[in-house]
Amino acid sequence: MAEVIIVPDAAAAGALVADEIASLIAADPEVVLGLATGSTPLPVYEALRPRLEGVDVSRVRGFALDEYVGIDPQHPESYRNVIRREVVEPLGLTPERIHTPNGALETIEHAGDDYERAIAAAGGVELQILGIGTDGHIGFNEPGSSFASSTRVKTLTEQTKRDNARFFDSIDQVPTHCITQGLGTILHARHLVLLAFGEGKAQAVAGAVEGPVTASVPGSAIQLHPRVSVVVDEAAASRLRFADYYRYTWENKPAWQGL
Ligand code: GLP
Repeated sequence: MAEVIIVPDAAAAGALVADEIASLIAADPEVVLGLATGSTPLPVYEALRPRLEGVDVSRVRGFALDEYVGIDPQHPESYRNVIRREVVEPLGLTPERIHTPNGALETIEHAGDDYERAIAAAGGVELQILGIGTDGHIGFNEPGSSFASSTRVKTLTEQTKRDNARFFDSIDQVPTHCITQGLGTILHARHLVLLAFGEGKAQAVAGAVEGPVTASVPGSAIQLHPRVSVVVDEAAASRLRFADYYRYTWENKPAWQGL
């Protein structure tokens, strides 16, 4: 099952995950990282910055989880621009090495397959950062997504549109469709690190970590993966049945085991 780490706050989570990523980069300067958008991973990117000072990150590679379909490429909330602004530029990564699914309408029919090929050609993702939607989605794999799915176009749920409306002028501006790595794609990454903070994520986290494995809670796909770290604050952990056990496990974790 997933290793659940309950931390005091988002900054502590960021530090923990950033330490792991920094050591991956030190071990392999061409490491392939799985990047995520949303507010949740921001503390990781912030904590990475000082850890990468003086480190040559020019060869680090990255694949984002998802993108809106048909969004104006200049739109500040296109995930390509979000990743550039929040990850590529602050960390000094090489833009050509950091990929986002292509949401352009002209090429959308084969954009999913193209992205799968690019990930495979890079040798797969070493560590995939994940947030989770309030309806349990990871990437943009909404409830009902196949556990075997690969990168493809999905329709956003009303709930996700509402959640993401804060990034747009109104809910009507939120694109209807997205292109997202599939649950099958995500499960191929060698290490999944799912982060969640706040009471609003407690139910989704409990469903993903402890609930039945079901396409109705796409995040529950993580239970099928051999190496998963779930890093949550107390509020996001508040509905976990085995929280005490997770705390005990973490406190007694042998020093030689990494994240
Ligand atoms: C979007 C993204 C997801 C992200 C989710 C949660 O739907 N596609 O990858 O996990 O938002 O966002 P936040 O972290 O801002 O709560």
